[in-house]
Amino acid sequence: MLEREFSAMDDLVQLTRDKDKDKDVAIITINNPPVNALSPSVVQGIARAIEQVSKDDAIKAVVLIGAGRTFIAGADIKEFGKITSGKAQRGAGLLPLLLQIEDVRKPVVVAIHGSAFGGGLELAMAGHYRVAVPNAQLGQPEVKLGIIPGAGGTQRLPRLVGVAKAVEMCAEGNPITAQEALKLGLVDQLIEGDLLAGAIAFSRDIAAKPLRKTRERNERVRNEKEKLGVPEQNASIFAAAREKAHTKQRGMMSPLAAIDVVEAATRLSFEEGCQLEQKLFGECLFSDQSKALIHAFFGEREVAKIPDIPKETALLPVDSVAVVGAGTMGGGIAMVFANAGFPVLLKEADQPALDRGLATIQKNYQSSVKRGRLTQQFVDERLQLIKPTLSYNDFDKVDMAIEAVFEGMALKKEIFGQLDRVCRPGAILASNTSTLDIDEIASATSRPDAVIGTHFFSPANIMRLLEIVRGKASSKEVIATCMQLSKKLAKVGVLVGNCRGFVGNRMFGPYRREAQFLVEEGASIESVDKALFDFGMAMGPMATGDLAGLDVGWRIRKEYRHLEKRGVRQPFAEDRLCELGRYGQKTGAGWYKYDENRRPIPDPEVNEMVRGWARAAGIAQRNISSEEIVERCIYALVNEGARILEEGIAGRAVDIDIIYLNGYGFPAYRGGPMWYADTVGLDKVYRRISEFHQQHGELWEPAPLLKRLAEEGKTFAALNRESAVMA
Ligand code: 3HC
Ligand code: NAI
Repeated sequence: MLEREFSAMDDLVQLTRDKDKDKDVAIITINNPPVNALSPSVVQGIARAIEQVSKDDAIKAVVLIGAGRTFIAGADIKEFGKITSGKAQRGAGLLPLLLQIEDVRKPVVVAIHGSAFGGGLELAMAGHYRVAVPNAQLGQPEVKLGIIPGAGGTQRLPRLVGVAKAVEMCAEGNPITAQEALKLGLVDQLIEGDLLAGAIAFSRDIAAKPLRKTRERNERVRNEKEKLGVPEQNASIFAAAREKAHTKQRGMMSPLAAIDVVEAATRLSFEEGCQLEQKLFGECLFSDQSKALIHAFFGEREVAKIPDIPKETALLPVDSVAVVGAGTMGGGIAMVFANAGFPVLLKEADQPALDRGLATIQKNYQSSVKRGRLTQQFVDERLQLIKPTLSYNDFDKVDMAIEAVFEGMALKKEIFGQLDRVCRPGAILASNTSTLDIDEIASATSRPDAVIGTHFFSPANIMRLLEIVRGKASSKEVIATCMQLSKKLAKVGVLVGNCRGFVGNRMFGPYRREAQFLVEEGASIESVDKALFDFGMAMGPMATGDLAGLDVGWRIRKEYRHLEKRGVRQPFAEDRLCELGRYGQKTGAGWYKYDENRRPIPDPEVNEMVRGWARAAGIAQRNISSEEIVERCIYALVNEGARILEEGIAGRAVDIDIIYLNGYGFPAYRGGPMWYADTVGLDKVYRRISEFHQQHGELWEPAPLLKRLAEEGKTFAALNRESAVMA
């Protein structure tokens, strides 16, 4: 325990002295749980502590450290919303504090554990030295929130790690480990064991050394190259960074702004560089992109909180699982659990299917090793965890069983009846079904409260989304456990209600339907894909169909044809392509042709064919703008999303947004379909949908919730808050 020699500045920032005999090291501890975000009060508290230690001649060095699980996760992101909504003024921020720290005339040693992110790293760089525990992480993740470092990070970082690494860290936003930071000169020493004790000892070691202000550093490194670089090399570094940003962060403005400002560090003085940083930071902060990305950041955390399931809900133990079916999904799900360290029993119907499933798992792991994503040792350990079987022996020992057999109700019920007989009481019984009724599946067991849907997305070991489907009887404990489990599996779990297609696929139906209608009305296949790709979708809808396999939807449509309302227009081109054996990538042709590397090649014949079919069906052909393509497809998502909200299939609009950002390639900088609709304005979206209703008939009937919100001048996001208040 630290002794408090000074009165505490306030609870958020404490100033104490070391307990050694000399008591000449001051310790400033930031204590703002959970992540020590730099709220305005924390900034003021640190400034007061620094002022006090500067005046005290008995103090020879200062250690700045974070209390709790982490150093500092950055500026308080909640403040940004207050600023952009006009509820708070944008002040000078952290910049003056960092100059104040750098100007202290005794060494300030920053001691880092957990994360030094964003403003946290910027603050650390204003210290004269940095020490860190080996597993600490350091980064400037601001671009992921649509902003750039706003407290001199773009100017100090290149002075410490060099231009190439600084531009990478600021533009891509990924953290580096303390080990790497040590090599780069961002950290001066790693501390094994007690961080505070190590930092105090370090501060004594360097007390006599001359102080180095980061903003004045431009020394030469070993290879005789200055950290701020030389013009010719810098030009190619920044050109490469811009090119990468255009492809990897397509459509985002913050990475390009970050690159501009790091580049400015190589041309301008520190002060001028900071001025430019402030200007671009402000432009980014007030952009729609940043608001959307901040919505996505908090949304990802909000979806974990279920209004009617208290935080204290007891969790069931899940330490081992069984997966039934080792096909496309079952194999991937087994990998997901094994990757997270769970022993997995993998059951198949017969030996050839089991061998095929295991071979695919091995192939997938090997390709990750080849690409350098996983080590061979990691893979060997994971494979050890997967135990293949053809029987239900040992199912009584697992805590959870996940069924991933063919999509068919009779088979699913048979499997669940079996699981009910063999699994221990209290085990969770989950289905990976993508369309079937969870309640009906649960009815095959004597314990429907233990049954739940865990809808993984393909490829399960890659896609982050996990829809957790709540049956009528699913118990709160089972739901809470699955939500928590999703985190352990590195997935984003979103709770959804039970209906055909749940949330994601149910909305995707109208989206792909409109894409097909547009092609049938005269838009080329490529123009539909291009319009949505340019909107920011990871892939156009036609290419997505080819990837997933056009035959999947075709089979489902054939099964459910009897439910279609007569006289309502249905797309037909995709079914005709399937009848011609064009199933997409798997058959080498679908909407596109595919070469041996599965690269899509536009096929003029298909465009011609569809035009012919459409004319024969009496569909007028016309030129269709990209704007209409985007509106028709994206508003189809929004209208269905509004119905889903109304029916309570999704609890909040943000749940839908997080599903679309993590499972359907919706651009994060647009915040998800419901957030995007709010950004456009629900009155405008409603008007356009009403026009489509007039032009294209009843499939476009506006959702009553959308109509109400548009008329009341409200947003889907406000509805989130309304329901949160009600809960
Ligand atoms: N501001 C406000 N709240 C924050 C926050 C921040 N910077 N970082 C995290 N939180 C909140 C989360 O919303 C969450 O709140 P909740 O419990 O109410 O849901 C809580 O802290 C815990 O966060 P996580 O659930 O994410 O906890 P993890 O342990 O999984 O992750 C983390 C911790 C790695 C630090 C992660 O929270 C993170 O990446 N945070 C954001 C980091 C970031 O983007 N920093 C840059 C901020 S912008 C900036 O600094 C601008 C500067 O240049 C001026
Ligand atoms: P798949 O056809 O690739 O695999 C199904 C496997 O189940 C086969 O290997 C089969 O041999 C096995 N199986 C059948 N009866 C069995 C039994 N009695 N015991 C053990 N194994 C048995 O199917 P896929 O694509 O993996 O789909 C599985 C489930 O996941 C389906 O419910 C599907 O709707 C759902 N799903 C599929 C997605 C996809 O993109 N393929 C995405 C999300 C969900």
